[in-house]
Amino acid sequence: MTFKALFVEKQGEETSLHLKEITKEDLPQGDVVIRVAYSSVNYKDGLATIPNGNIVREYPFIPGIDAAGVVAESTDARFAEGDAVLVTGYDLGVSHFGGYSEYIRVPADWVVAIPKGLTLKEAMMIGTAGFTAALSVQALEQKGVKPEHGEVLVTGATGGVGSMAVSMLNNKGYTVVASSGKQEAHEFLQEIGASKVISREEVVPEKIRPLGRMQWAGVVDPVGGQTLAAVLPNVKYGGAVAVSGMTGGVNVPTTVFPFILRGVQLIGIDSVQCPMDTRQPLWDRIATDLKPEPVLNVGIQEVSLEELVDVFPKILAGKMTGRTIVKVAEL
Ligand SMILES: NC(=O)c1ccc[n+]([C@@H]2O[C@H](COP(=O)([O-])OP(=O)(O)OC[C@H]3O[C@@H](n4cnc5c(N)ncnc54)[C@H](OP(=O)(O)O)[C@@H]3O)[C@@H](O)[C@H]2O)c1
Repeated sequence: MTFKALFVEKQGEETSLHLKEITKEDLPQGDVVIRVAYSSVNYKDGLATIPNGNIVREYPFIPGIDAAGVVAESTDARFAEGDAVLVTGYDLGVSHFGGYSEYIRVPADWVVAIPKGLTLKEAMMIGTAGFTAALSVQALEQKGVKPEHGEVLVTGATGGVGSMAVSMLNNKGYTVVASSGKQEAHEFLQEIGASKVISREEVVPEKIRPLGRMQWAGVVDPVGGQTLAAVLPNVKYGGAVAVSGMTGGVNVPTTVFPFILRGVQLIGIDSVQCPMDTRQPLWDRIATDLKPEPVLNVGIQEVSLEELVDVFPKILAGKMTGRTIVKVAEL
């Protein structure tokens, strides 16, 4: 039996994408074979398609850091044929053939049982971006940030992580201020749960002072760089910032003052190696109290494996709004 997969190939300094027919023998080792129904598009997937993206280690390669489907074969007692499952992170789509393929074979330790209340499609609408947003929201909760403490800022709010975070925070009763570079997306942001929308310029002034107005009870920041440097001085006493991304750059020119004079807490968020004893219970929350219903209703585009090629340049340019899912096969 042959099936379809999208490969990224490298010729000299250039990369290109090709749909190919392969067999299960071409898949890497693992305990569980999954028939993939949906995958999704994350910033990291965009990076995997370009020559200097620093994601793919060996070519030809199948990208896709997310996959949801049903178990086709399992040698591990935790999973049986027909189970609805998802995989995000670990080495999937990085050094292990990823989700842009009708079948994947992975270690059982990477597999999450899809909780009741989530379809395969919804699981991929949420995907790595939504899981990262959920980790960020849970981190703020664990650091003691409560709705009554005041406004919570979400940067890069129209992106995958940002839009999911807006909706999840709104579910939990926080007053959400969304920062976005997209003027045209203000209505969308309000629809998914933002009580106020501000521009990137309002968040990042020309001159960043070591300490500013105590404005934010908490911040979910998938942007990093100058944006992170600019929000830290404006966090309230004892507030917290959950940082997950770097679309705005990797260098953060800041000072120690927010930390040592205001007890501000900076929390690093990693969805890739997040341990299973955090991962599975958090997916259970994503299916219940954190479920980002408004984004699932208005913020999703669906493409086929063939149409994916046109999506990567858009996510790399920061031009996406909401999430894009990939329909890999009809199950
Ligand atoms: N730590 C983890 O485990 C983890 C997991 C998932 C993603 N990430 C990282 O999180 C980041 C976001 O991922 P994503 O999938 O949500 O990407 P995305 O959908 O492309 O969203 C990124 C958003 O950031 C904003 N943005 C883009 N360029 C910017 C710039 N130069 N300055 C300020 N804002 C800018 C844009 O929102 P606006 O136009 O609304 O401002 C954009 O939509 C990426 O760096 C990704 O690698 C990390």
